[in-house]
Amino acid sequence: MMERKSTGIGKLDELVEGGFKERSINMVVGEPGTGKSTLALQYLLAGITSGEKAIYVSIEEQKDSFYENMSRLGFDLARHEQEGNLLFYECNALKLKEFLEKGSLGFENKIIEMKAKRLVLDSMSAFILLYDTEMKQRSAVQRLFEKLKTWDLTTYLVSEASQDYTQFGLEYLVDGLVKLYYRKVGHERVRTIEVYKMRGTKHQTVETVYRIEGDGIRLYPGETIL
Ligand SMILES: Nc1ncnc2c1ncn2[C@@H]1O[C@H](COP(=O)(O)OP(=O)(O)OP(=O)(O)O)[C@@H](O)[C@H]1O
Ligand SMILES: [Mg+2]
Repeated sequence: MMERKSTGIGKLDELVEGGFKERSINMVVGEPGTGKSTLALQYLLAGITSGEKAIYVSIEEQKDSFYENMSRLGFDLARHEQEGNLLFYECNALKLKEFLEKGSLGFENKIIEMKAKRLVLDSMSAFILLYDTEMKQRSAVQRLFEKLKTWDLTTYLVSEASQDYTQFGLEYLVDGLVKLYYRKVGHERVRTIEVYKMRGTKHQTVETVYRIEGDGIRLYPGETIL
């Protein structure tokens, strides 16, 4: 059987037969502040813990503030970077678009040099907005995915829920799709996570409560939302 890549969250792995399929392209979609970047980072850190190298491509956030915010959750990203296991690649959407039009990503030499096994792209939303028609958006995404499939990489894309991708079908193109919700229950908001699809995987379909705690995201499968 194909090796699974742990999501970095034990209770989430249990929902997806142990993790993402090797070399698959997965995506997390969620509203602002739901924890998309944290979830993606925990996925990379799980790889680093098991001896894999990881790349975080950030279109949205700058390295300094990202490292500082994530240090609140106990993640020492500067150390992982110094040890050569993590590369934080800051890239704006326009630059990425230019690279793709020249048939590259701008960081493939890093993927090859590091022999990176895990990649996060945060976020797709900014990138897609650079293209003005659905057809151009779809073909740009296909070009990106073709590139990613060239390497021995398992990818986690981050995407904003506010953007309607259904128009050109990004959600159809990815192998795995995880959705994060921020539901109003009484006077409080409750965060829930749902594995919406995962090709080749007998995944659970239950919407599970999660919280962002002092050491990251944790799922609470026993809790029900009324
Ligand atoms: N130490 C902490 N304890 C509890 N919750 C925290 C802590 N630090 C951050 N959070 C929560 O995590 C949220 C941010 O997480 P994250 O940056 O992963 O979300 P995001 O979905 O990527 O956000 P954005 O849409 O802005 O990119 C904050 O809005 C806050 O609610
Ligand atoms: Mg984010």
